[in-house]
Formats: sequence, structure tokens, C-alpha cells
Amino acid sequence: MAVAVPSEPPAFEPFPYRGDALFAEGSRLSDLAERFGTPLYVYSRTALETAWRGFDDALAGMAHQVCFAVKANGNLAVLDALARLGSGFDIVSGGELERVIAAGGDPGSVIFSGVGKSREEMRAGLAAGIRSFNVESVSELERLAEVARDLGRVAPVALRVNPDVDPKTHPHIATGLRSSKFGIPIEEARAVYAKGAGMRSLRMTGVGCHIGSQITSLDPFRDALRRVAALVDELAGNGIGIREVDVGGGLGIRYRDETPPSPAEYGAVVREVLGGRPVTVFVEPGRAVCGNAGVLLARVEYLKDNGGARFAIVDAAMNDFIRPALYDGWSRILPCERRGGGGRALYTVAGPVCESGDFLGRDRELDVREGDLVAILSAGAYGFVMSSNYNSRPRAAEVMVDGERVHLVRRRERADELHALESRLPAPPR
Ligand code: LLP
Repeated sequence: MAVAVPSEPPAFEPFPYRGDALFAEGSRLSDLAERFGTPLYVYSRTALETAWRGFDDALAGMAHQVCFAVKANGNLAVLDALARLGSGFDIVSGGELERVIAAGGDPGSVIFSGVGKSREEMRAGLAAGIRSFNVESVSELERLAEVARDLGRVAPVALRVNPDVDPKTHPHIATGLRSSKFGIPIEEARAVYAKGAGMRSLRMTGVGCHIGSQITSLDPFRDALRRVAALVDELAGNGIGIREVDVGGGLGIRYRDETPPSPAEYGAVVREVLGGRPVTVFVEPGRAVCGNAGVLLARVEYLKDNGGARFAIVDAAMNDFIRPALYDGWSRILPCERRGGGGRALYTVAGPVCESGDFLGRDRELDVREGDLVAILSAGAYGFVMSSNYNSRPRAAEVMVDGERVHLVRRRERADELHALESRLPAPPR
């Protein structure tokens, strides 16, 4: 079937060079590094908003709600900016629910995903009046029914089905294969709906799926959606009227030379497969909204040459940005102030953490000197949120630029705060 793709607006470039200086919207990155220190995450509000609107526009004409996946970037300012556009949120923990509420998000547009919801988290979701629980097993369904009954509430439920589709992405971020821990095998879903429909403290309203992340082709989405659509039709035939279809997240971005589909192309597939059914569509993008809206700034501490291997040791490390170490993630690394090119060499860009896996990029051609600043691009998703205090390193500060304005949206941690929750042993008995 021919798919109508709306024409796309010209791409907004949030981190352009102006002359030899790299900018974030109206701010020179080296100025931000001087002002706030490094390592520093810098987000572009315009880039975030543009990407979010890309999804919203892509589904125009269908009843829909874009629910940003908080796990990708949970900074309150990020959530706030998106909530002001009307975003809903996809959460996976009670902590993320608290964040959404603290950021001014509407709990009524929250979808609670995740394979291991605790009773406490279920109670919090019910108390907040969230839009839907995406249930991933029969045991979870029974637990939710019990928790809701005890609170005298009716829990809105979507089953997250596992459509058994290979998203052709890194194995750590593929979730829709039969062998993964996620979802309910789609062929078992009908029986689970029947069971849920018989529980008075549950309302079976939706079906959801999410097959993986950083997906760069439309085919896995189309395959998964077709299976979900067939299930919706089958359930309707059995008297279970599904009103909500959650198509998950997972659309990839360009880190290097990938050519992922645009949100418009993705939306066209959703329309093509689900169009005509009386359902509200939820979409849960994370990476595609914030991934290319953020960079990580680091300062070159040392240049060294070890037996022919050249290293640029910078002050950001795997604790700040773990994607290279964990998924072989590749992010472009650019100098914040370009030099002439005469000092160009191939470097492994590595951090101070005591692990050989602590690198941000390998074999990068750079013209840098000690004291220079570099930007690690495409760090807005699964960046700060996956950071840790390993090696007792205070976590980075975060800044959001908005045109000419700059907001510090998370101050840098202090070393003394890292052990503030700990105690020494009692004094020895005399
Ligand atoms: N919905 C559900 C139920 C999810 O599990 C996820 C991501 C999303 C939405 C958002 O997916 P996205 O649009 O961001 O692809 N830390 C890994 C990615 C883990 C993704 C987990 N689930 C990474 O850095 O690549």
C-alpha cells in the first residue's frame, strides 16, 4: 500500500560550528564549559521540542498521545519542557513517577511499563491516577488486581505483548524476541485478556508492545504492529474492545552514518497498519526525542603515547557516559574550538576511571592539545541517566540552552555528598 509521508521541515542543527567554535543554539560551548565546569551535559531545548513535535505531527489525524520515555533522560527541565508541549510519559519505576510529578507532568498521561513492578509502585501509580499499567505477566496481573482491590480502585491495564520480532539492533537493547524477558508471548495474550476481563478491579483497555531500541528500519515496526493489530481484531471478535494501542518506542537516531526513518515515516506506518480502528495510539519515544539534543563536554587533561597507541585522557569517563563501554556505542567527538589541523592524530579518547573499558571513542582523528575542550555528541539519551559515582566521581552538571538563554538544570555534585548517606562504625568498646 502506498504510504503518504508528510513533507519534512528543514532539519534544525542544535550544535553547529560558527567559524571554528562549536555552539549550542546561541551559546558557545567553550563559554559554557568555563562557566559551569566539565564534565558538563548540555541540552538544546529547541532540539528536544522539535523532535517531540515530529512525533506529535506524525500522528496528527489519529487519536494519539506521545509519551516520552523518562528513562532516556529524566532531568526535571527536560520533562518540564516536554510536559509544556502536552507530552505524556512512559515510566518504569516509582522514582520516575515522582520525577514526572515534580516536573509538572500530568499523571493522567503516564504509562507504567516494566517487568518488575513492586506493590508499592502499583499503589503509587493508582494513587496518582495514571493512564495505564502495561502488564507483562500473569503474576503481575494478579498482583495488580489485588493491590487495586485493596485500595478500592479499578486499574486500567494494557498487556504488553511480545510479538517475537527481531529488531536487528544491539542484543542488549532488543526486547521483542520470544527469548527476552519482556512481555507476554502474543499467542498467550488472548487467554490473559480473558482472565483480566474477569477481574473486577481491572479494566482491560489496551495492548502494548516495544521491540527494542535504536531500530533503524521500518520493517520490524511494521511486522510487530501487524501482529498487534491482528490481536486487537481478534479480541474485538471475542467481545474485548481494545481502545488503546501502545506502539512503544525504539526509533533510532543517527550517531554516525545510520539512516533511521524519520518520525514522519514511522508515523505513516502506524497509520497504515492501525488506521481505521477506533483506538488511541500511544507512542513512547525516548532516544529519538532527546538523543541528538544533548552533548557531553570534557576537557583534555593529558595526551599520551603508550607503545604507539595515542590517548587523549579527558575528564569525562565511563561513569558519566557508559554507552561506548556497554554497547560499543559510537558518538561523534568534536573539538569545541577547531585548530588548524596540523596536529591531527588518531586518538583513543579515554577517561580517568581505572578500567580499560573506560573509553569514549577509539581511533578518532583529532587535532587537540592538553587543556582543549571536546564535545561528545548524541549524548542526550541514556547519558546522564546511566551515570554513576564509580571511582567516587561526582556526577556531571547539566545545562539547558534555550536560544540565547542558559539554565543550569542540575548542579554538579560535590565529593562530600557522595558519602553523605554512609556512616562509620560505632566507636570500639573501651
Ligand atoms: N518504551 C519501553 C517500554 C522501553 O523499554 C523503552 C526503552 C522505550 C519505550 C524507549 O525506547 P527508545 O525510544 O529510547 O529506544 N540504555 C540503552 C537503551 C535501553 C532502552 C530500554 N527501553 C542504550 O543506551 O542504548
